[in-house]
Amino acid sequence: MVRDGAGWWTEQVVPRLVDASLSAAPVGRLRARACAGLHGRVLEIGFGSGLNLPHLPAAVTALDAVEPADLAWERSAGRRAAAPLEVARTGLDGERLAAPDGSYDAVLCTFTLCTVPDPARALAEARRVLRPGGALHLLEHGLAPGRRVRGWQRRLEPLQGRAFGGCHLTRDVLALVRAAGLVPDLVHQAYVATGPARPWSYVTVVRAARDAVA
Ligand SMILES: C[S@@+](CC[C@H](N)C(=O)[O-])C[C@H]1O[C@@H](n2cnc3c(N)ncnc32)[C@H](O)[C@@H]1O
Repeated sequence: MVRDGAGWWTEQVVPRLVDASLSAAPVGRLRARACAGLHGRVLEIGFGSGLNLPHLPAAVTALDAVEPADLAWERSAGRRAAAPLEVARTGLDGERLAAPDGSYDAVLCTFTLCTVPDPARALAEARRVLRPGGALHLLEHGLAPGRRVRGWQRRLEPLQGRAFGGCHLTRDVLALVRAAGLVPDLVHQAYVATGPARPWSYVTVVRAARDAVA
């Protein structure tokens, strides 16, 4: 198939950029935090190149992956081969999951909510496939608390979207989680970099239950 420049960039360059920029050790520590407590059957939305695999607890018994980018999936091959469990690629779009209601103990989503076109829809789908008592484990960058940083985030967002396959800088992660009816119980928010990197570096790690505890 003949691709235009934007399509070629998104398919061939973005997965390599993501792999390189999100495999640093400090990001790994955030991944470990997001993966803590995962167990049973887990669905990962936006599996990418499998950078969360080394952080999965042994209590995870099955991992299904939703990932639209073929190159990202191919680049995950080595990590999948080294993982103690088999990973099945069960879908291409987190906004339309094939899984039945209530079929997972947990949903994992890292640095993907920034990119899906409709994050509210993706979170509604995540909640739908969680079993009662299940939880979403989310790691994301997003809207910063400071007025000046927010200004830079708004200015940089169009460029960011073009360079990183539709990535947004101004999504309010916790507000989206709550609006989806999910109930945050563990929340960590912080800048993980200073200076000019601040627009990219306000991160949220949140575990959110499918239901409020009665
Ligand atoms: C910034 S990358 C993060 C990859 C991986 N989650 C990680 O933490 O390294 C965003 C990922 O979201 C995927 N993605 C984009 N749109 C998606 C959608 N509608 N459903 C599921 N994944 C999507 C991209 O292909 C890409 O792998």
